Amino acid sequence: MEPEIFINFKHYENAVGESCESLLNQFNTVKNNKIYYCLSYIDLRLNSKFPDLNIISQSVDLNGYGAFTGSISIESLMSIGIKGSLLNHSEKRIEKNNIVETVKKAKENNFKIVLCVENIEEIKNYSELEPDYIAYEPPELIGGNISVSSSKPEIIEKASKICENKTKLLVGAGVKAKKDIDKSMDLGAQGVLIASGIIRDPKPINKLISLTGKR
Ligand code: G3P
Repeated sequence: MEPEIFINFKHYENAVGESCESLLNQFNTVKNNKIYYCLSYIDLRLNSKFPDLNIISQSVDLNGYGAFTGSISIESLMSIGIKGSLLNHSEKRIEKNNIVETVKKAKENNFKIVLCVENIEEIKNYSELEPDYIAYEPPELIGGNISVSSSKPEIIEKASKICENKTKLLVGAGVKAKKDIDKSMDLGAQGVLIASGIIRDPKPINKLISLTGKR
């Protein structure tokens, strides 16, 4: 099975605004519909310039339209053609009730949710909601050089059993090389979430190509 690869641009200076557009111009040469680009709010409208790329949001709020300063809603995202979002990323955690209601609302609207979780307890609890994806990322490994697949293989295996027939499993944190992706897949994940491994590489496009070669 081909891995699904979610690239989180976070708010890195070289991945926001004009720099985001220039990265997408390069990434657009890689034809692979299993790659998803998680962009900063200010760049989401680039989806109209890059209709062939899967572009999703880095977070979404539960509220709809109204007096909600600083919000981004499923409705507003869908109105510009964005069909999914990360939710509850370690760097943007939200409360449990909010997660439950947002996943429910997203399902009603056919809006894809990648629900990020930090440990096996959260995998157990939140897989019951059957979001489109559960993304397991141990916070202490995020941004580092030790990959989740080498540090937490037993948790990935357990997680894949818990998620089976409910939701797809992604894993992330410290993913830097193709062997990290291959190992994650062998342990039962359907794909990975990756940020610094590509975005902070001196040549992001070369790195993306090297990570997406055939297994
Ligand atoms: O969302 C992906 C991210 O949190 C993992 O970050 O830099 O370890 O790939 P990184």
